[in-house]
Amino acid sequence: MTLRRRLVVAVAALAVVLLVAGVSILLVQRAFLMGRLDAQLAGLAANPRALLLASQRAPAAGAGSLSDVYVGRMGSAGRLTTVLAPDTDPDLVPDVARGESIPTPTGRGTVSGTTAQVRVLTVSLANGRAEAVIAVPTTSADIATRRLAATLTVVGLVVAAIVGLLLWWVDRLGLRPIAQMTEAADAITAGDTTRRVPPGRPGTEAARLGEALNTMIAASTATNERMRRFVADASHELRTPLTTLGGYAALHRSRPPGPLDDEGRADVDDAMRRIGDEAGRMRRLVDGLLDLTGLEGADGLDLGPVDLGPLLHDVASDLRVVAPDREVSLDAPDSFVVTADRDRVTQAVVGLTSNAVRHTPAGTPVSVRVLTRPGWVRVQVADSGPGVPAEHLPHLTERFYRVDRSRSSGSGGSGLGLAVVDAIARAHGGGLSVSSEPGRGSTFSLDLPVTPAS
Ligand SMILES: Nc1ncnc2c1ncn2[C@@H]1O[C@H](COP(=O)(O)OP(=O)(O)OP(=O)(O)O)[C@@H](O)[C@H]1O
Ligand SMILES: [Mg+2]
Repeated sequence: MTLRRRLVVAVAALAVVLLVAGVSILLVQRAFLMGRLDAQLAGLAANPRALLLASQRAPAAGAGSLSDVYVGRMGSAGRLTTVLAPDTDPDLVPDVARGESIPTPTGRGTVSGTTAQVRVLTVSLANGRAEAVIAVPTTSADIATRRLAATLTVVGLVVAAIVGLLLWWVDRLGLRPIAQMTEAADAITAGDTTRRVPPGRPGTEAARLGEALNTMIAASTATNERMRRFVADASHELRTPLTTLGGYAALHRSRPPGPLDDEGRADVDDAMRRIGDEAGRMRRLVDGLLDLTGLEGADGLDLGPVDLGPLLHDVASDLRVVAPDREVSLDAPDSFVVTADRDRVTQAVVGLTSNAVRHTPAGTPVSVRVLTRPGWVRVQVADSGPGVPAEHLPHLTERFYRVDRSRSSGSGGSGLGLAVVDAIARAHGGGLSVSSEPGRGSTFSLDLPVTPAS
């Protein structure tokens, strides 16, 4: 059942309860008033002397207390003769049949007079030959009951109006926006990604919910778009080496059968070398993608104490071997222990140093430095190469981003290296930042917390 329907049912139930309560109050009040009149009648009936006197027109005998009472006398012939009529209605005659005996107070109409209803009772007079008919108009009780009914109706209508207003308010501020959100969410699920939840009235829960929903939709749309772009980019990157491999295979198939001469053998060797290069490129690409997926997923890090001193010393030594033409300087303490994933940190630093070698001209010096501040360590890899133009800096950590696509892809770069370094830094709770000045070199700073928050 929807919230709106539940609310309507609750209000309907409340209305029924109020109606029943109102009617009950009316009935109880009326029964009370009638009981009072009946008690008055019973009191008169219990005092036949007063009645007798009254019936003999003896106003002195309590006529004051009888001013609103009808007293009639029904002789043995059964005819009713008015003895005393209420001051307010002198013509009153209750509707009592000839010779009828009414032993208990009963409601009756009237045959004349302005009064409509009376409570009536007959009492045998002392001589036993006649009956006294005593009646009291119910007018005042009827008026009181009608007034109470009118008051209850007005109160009921006011309560109904207030409840109606409240319902309208709740519906406008709470339920209608939720219905609109549901509709928008359905539309988005059906594929309308441009659809957004209409903004609710500021300060209401519905408005906050709407904002949260819109933020969530935007985030989900962005994630989907990133995913789509990622798949498109990855496919595109993989297509180039695959095309090359396919080309060499086709070339080989088109070769005439028979033994190879020296030139043919050299061609095959060259083709095999290229195939190996392309396969290596694909492997690096796939490795990079797997690294990123692992770092962004729930695989986690293999944390332990890592001494950055010897680690960076080894990286610098390897670099000197791989690039003997470079001057590699290392400025790091002999020992500086952090809690980190050794393999991942090594991979990140190597990613930065290999970039410094790959993307700068031969002979360009490379320096590795360690800077510390409380709780943090910064590993800086700087070169004095051509640098990176400012407009490319914010994109360097994007997947497959290369400043000079043709040159970098020619040099085997996939554009995943810095994305992996950045992902490693983030997985540790740190980050990667770049500063570069075209013509003067670049500095990549890998920030790591000494102890990552778990
Ligand atoms: N030290 C540097 N000097 C100048 N440009 C750099 C430097 N390091 C990175 N770049 C630029 O940033 C781009 C992205 O680097 P990244 O490491 O992500 O990819 P890559 O080195 O091209 O490929 P790989 O995935 O093999 O590392 C490079 O293509 C290059 O254009
Ligand atoms: Mg790289």
